[in-house]
Amino acid sequence: MLSSLKKKMTIRSRDRILGGFTALNSSTISQKRYKHFFLGVLITSAIIVFSLPFINFSSNETKTFHKIDLNLIANLPKVKLKANNEETSPTDTKCTHWDCFNIYRCGHTGHERIAVYVYPLARYVDENGASATPQVSKEYYDLINAIVNSKYYTANPEEACLFIPFIDTLNEDQLNVNLTWRALNQLPMWSNGENHLIFNMISGKSPILSTQLGKALVAGADFDTYTIRKKYDISIPVFSPVAKFAYINNTSHFRNIKVVSSQINIDLYFMDELRNLNKKFNDQILLLDQCNEKGYQKRCEVNTENQFRYPQILKKSTFCLVFRGQRMGQFVLLEAMASNCLPVIIMDGHVMPFEDIIDWKRIAIFIMESHLHTLMDVVNGISENKIEEMKKCLLAIYDRYFSSIEKIALNSLEIIQDRVFPHLARSYDELNMLPSEINYNPLHFPTTAPRSLGFTALILTYDRIQSLFTLIQRLSKVPSLMKIVVVWNNQKKDPPPMSQFPKIQKSINVIKTKANKLSNRFYPYKEIETEAVLHIDDDIVMLTSDEVEFAYEVWREFPDRIVGFPSRTHLWDNVTNSWKYESEWLNEISMVLTGAAFLHKYWSYLYTYSLPSNVKNWVDDNMNCEDIAMNFLVANMTNKPPIKVTPRKKFKCPECINNEMLSADIGHMVARSQCVDRFAKIFGRMPLKSVEFRADPVLFKDAFPEKLKRFNDIGSL
Ligand SMILES: *[C@@H]1O[C@H](CO)[C@@H](O)[C@H](O)[C@H]1NC(C)=O
Ligand SMILES: *[C@@H]1O[C@H](CO)[C@@H](O)[C@H](O)[C@H]1NC(C)=O
Ligand SMILES: *[C@@H]1O[C@H](CO)[C@@H](O)[C@H](O)[C@H]1NC(C)=O
Ligand SMILES: *[C@@H]1O[C@H](CO)[C@@H](O)[C@H](O)[C@H]1NC(C)=O
Ligand SMILES: *[C@@H]1O[C@H](CO)[C@@H](O)[C@H](O)[C@H]1NC(C)=O
Repeated sequence: MLSSLKKKMTIRSRDRILGGFTALNSSTISQKRYKHFFLGVLITSAIIVFSLPFINFSSNETKTFHKIDLNLIANLPKVKLKANNEETSPTDTKCTHWDCFNIYRCGHTGHERIAVYVYPLARYVDENGASATPQVSKEYYDLINAIVNSKYYTANPEEACLFIPFIDTLNEDQLNVNLTWRALNQLPMWSNGENHLIFNMISGKSPILSTQLGKALVAGADFDTYTIRKKYDISIPVFSPVAKFAYINNTSHFRNIKVVSSQINIDLYFMDELRNLNKKFNDQILLLDQCNEKGYQKRCEVNTENQFRYPQILKKSTFCLVFRGQRMGQFVLLEAMASNCLPVIIMDGHVMPFEDIIDWKRIAIFIMESHLHTLMDVVNGISENKIEEMKKCLLAIYDRYFSSIEKIALNSLEIIQDRVFPHLARSYDELNMLPSEINYNPLHFPTTAPRSLGFTALILTYDRIQSLFTLIQRLSKVPSLMKIVVVWNNQKKDPPPMSQFPKIQKSINVIKTKANKLSNRFYPYKEIETEAVLHIDDDIVMLTSDEVEFAYEVWREFPDRIVGFPSRTHLWDNVTNSWKYESEWLNEISMVLTGAAFLHKYWSYLYTYSLPSNVKNWVDDNMNCEDIAMNFLVANMTNKPPIKVTPRKKFKCPECINNEMLSADIGHMVARSQCVDRFAKIFGRMPLKSVEFRADPVLFKDAFPEKLKRFNDIGSL
């Protein structure tokens, strides 16, 4: 059915839009040439003088290789092609990375990076003086320039693993294809195109360049699922020189149109469907076509002839349609992406640009050509939240991979790099996720830390001796406890002598601090010999041994998280327009307070040495919010929420002053809210993540004989 549909389609006219790319402005380059001339002479003579001894006295010839000089572009040296006596070789359609790409050419440089050689600048002409390519386009110049200035470039063809001919094949309409084939076949390292990369954005009419390229890789914009050699060729976008005029760097930009169709010369079948939809959803669709007076940067509404500036009009729409034209690759794709307008792709079988690495489902909508009539149902079925999310991803992906010809060129090389050195290849998360989405674990451990290591309990105390001793007594019964470190923060008084401390089986270290600072609790003391640290206030005497041991078990499974007992959450206060700290019992949590929590020692190190000093100083000056700061630090780094263990919610004891129950001191809650809001500003974002999740022992709630349960003594509330 689909193929019959395609046959029915009539192409109205060729969708040649810009007539190709921008011609290079050679005057700017020739000016630069003179500026660099004398410097060049100087450097060259210096090189000659210094290399004389080597040339004269070494028996075997040492070659020097010079970086390609792009200034020559204004006046390309002519290379006369030999008469065409050899056959061109048809493109090997069966090529895969494994059998056509010669991987043994790679890795001669001593670093694990592909080395890319660009052939000398030249104008290839035949015996009659006809040239394979016209003047080099600005786009091709920029592309080559990006490659030559990248870390992949090498001037030495012998160590190269990838070769790029200096022949502007971007726009096939401008190309003498027969001569281009001849020129390629006469390149010194061509050998049937092995490890050669040909860039092609606008494909042409017969003869088609890509039919006679042997084993060469094609980075092309016109692939469909039948023509691409999967994991071999690279699908790239057609670069649009005008996309920059539509660029918008703000995903909350106001848009009053739901869908805009702006592509010109679209197929009649598409146009008919769009007219039908337009009748039904007139207020949601803006249907544009060419104006009577032609010009790419102008569009007129189909029924009213209202005129709009293009591509700027795309900034007003949430969705932008991208249709298959005579070619697959369409300028409008990049123009839509630049304007942060979600592309709706109506091109059956098109291989999307960089499809190997980009998850297009996150940033675009796909509709089958024969289902175009469902367009409005599809786009109206996407929630506002989803749209916001997609726009954020779209902006990030556009900025990273599509916003300039340089990025397109380098990303093409990086895709080959990832294939050649797969152990270094970028992961899905790195390639597609926003920085705020990537779960990052800075602790490169086995996922489950060994139980035998145990944990250190770190108690910050001032002068609540009795409570401290009770706590030590209770902690000493926890099986996995290795050591207790008491941080004595009272400068006016010495800690009690060791003889007065409770006699327990584990060792106790007392550390006297030099100043009464809250950040002392997060110093990575050398006395802490375990990775797991139980940070605990001297007044938290209600936790049972089972609760603490169980929390340690949970931490072992999640060593990069804060795992502990008192939980809180943050909320957006839409009255004061600020972040708010919340201690009510809600269904979600986003912080676990460090008054009773397990943390990896690494976080103490990070708190001490890399927490922004304005956060750290604020905590020490105000003697408050060190626990909130720690939650920010961990969440900002890992993008993960903390883990609350066991049901206990009240951590109140008779002598405690610092409790935050519902009746608690309002001033305290206000100060805590200010901390959350202040830290969010300093971090530049709200890193805390909420979660509706708590860890309890497996058999905890089951009606089951107690002696069969591992953790019996789990407190309630
Ligand atoms: C290219 O070569 C083919 C076959 O040799 C020939 O038929 C065709 O006319 C040539 N095209 C041009 C533009 O020279
Ligand atoms: C986009 O906006 C962000 C923050 O609003 C800014 O850091 C960045 O430089 C902007 N990029 C461009 C290209 O304007
Ligand atoms: C983004 O656009 C919205 C709405 O137009 C505006 O309120 C906001 O200030 C803009 N943000 C930036 C960073 O320009
Ligand atoms: C603030 O949030 C509440 C609860 O979500 C909502 O009912 C109220 O309409 C919001 N107020 C404003 C001004 O957005
Ligand atoms: C937050 O995390 C980002 C990304 O890892 C990092 O660049 C930034 O420095 C962190 N901010 C702070 C204040 O630690």
